[in-house]
Amino acid sequence: MSVSFDLTGTTAVVTGARRGIGFAMAEGLAMAGADIIAASASQEADGGAIGARVRELGRTFEGHAVDFRDRDAVAAFGAAVRDRADILVNNAGTIRRSPAAEHPLEWWDEVLDVNLRNQFVLTQAVAAGMLERGYGRIVFTASLLSFQGGITVPGYTAAKSGIAGLVKALSNEWSARGVTVNAIAPGYIATDNTAALRADEDRSQAILDRIPAGRWGSAEDLQGATVFLASPSAAYVTGVTLPVDGGWMAR
Ligand SMILES: NC(=O)c1ccc[n+]([C@@H]2O[C@H](COP(=O)([O-])OP(=O)(O)OC[C@H]3O[C@@H](n4cnc5c(N)ncnc54)[C@H](OP(=O)(O)O)[C@@H]3O)[C@@H](O)[C@H]2O)c1
Repeated sequence: MSVSFDLTGTTAVVTGARRGIGFAMAEGLAMAGADIIAASASQEADGGAIGARVRELGRTFEGHAVDFRDRDAVAAFGAAVRDRADILVNNAGTIRRSPAAEHPLEWWDEVLDVNLRNQFVLTQAVAAGMLERGYGRIVFTASLLSFQGGITVPGYTAAKSGIAGLVKALSNEWSARGVTVNAIAPGYIATDNTAALRADEDRSQAILDRIPAGRWGSAEDLQGATVFLASPSAAYVTGVTLPVDGGWMAR
């Protein structure tokens, strides 16, 4: 047996790769050798910035505009890529901030659809191909709110806690068939998703004070864990939600 984090010759489907954490995850997978198929709400067919970066790394890129609020569109995308996906990174996600007492049910439904329900729809479709071939690596982007409650984001917390459970459920069924299922729980990462938090000086400082590593994370901080979980050498790692959080959860 040898150790391999080389993804040459594999194809990775990455959702939400157009910006933020998904961009860095797709970039990291391409650095390790994977070709990339990306899907998000406004993903350009030529790939825009992420397409250019992946091609610069010598890998192929294919972009699909898919709105994750739309179950049929997600299922159709899954059917279109299931025969080619060795790796699936379920990263696209949205967040709606409003106190629980007045949290609009439309926001709850939207966040649960995008962050949980339709991630299951895509995973079901793509895993069907992986299970037939007897090999697959599935990685979800979870959150610290897969473990904690958060503040004014009840739908987001419910969805991300659901992802941590789903990872275990799918792992129990698929691991013996060559398909591992894990999640990465990013800490506080500077992206559009956390722009409102970072704009609030007091909140931003309170978060920083609690991070043992002493800094907010960057999207690139997620690359190592993504490549590891997507690699052949992670065959016996499954059913886990791995925090990549500068030590937040240890505190
Ligand atoms: N930033 C953090 O601190 C943090 C911490 C924990 C977990 N996360 C999670 O990490 C993931 C990526 O977040 P990020 O921080 O990189 O946020 P981001 O910069 O806002 O990027 C979100 C990505 O998701 C896509 N997306 C959002 N709504 C969508 C929809 N309805 N249909 C299809 N695609 C949609 C966006 O697509 P377009 O680019 O096409 O609009 C974008 O590519 C999310 O699951 C988020 O919950 C983030």
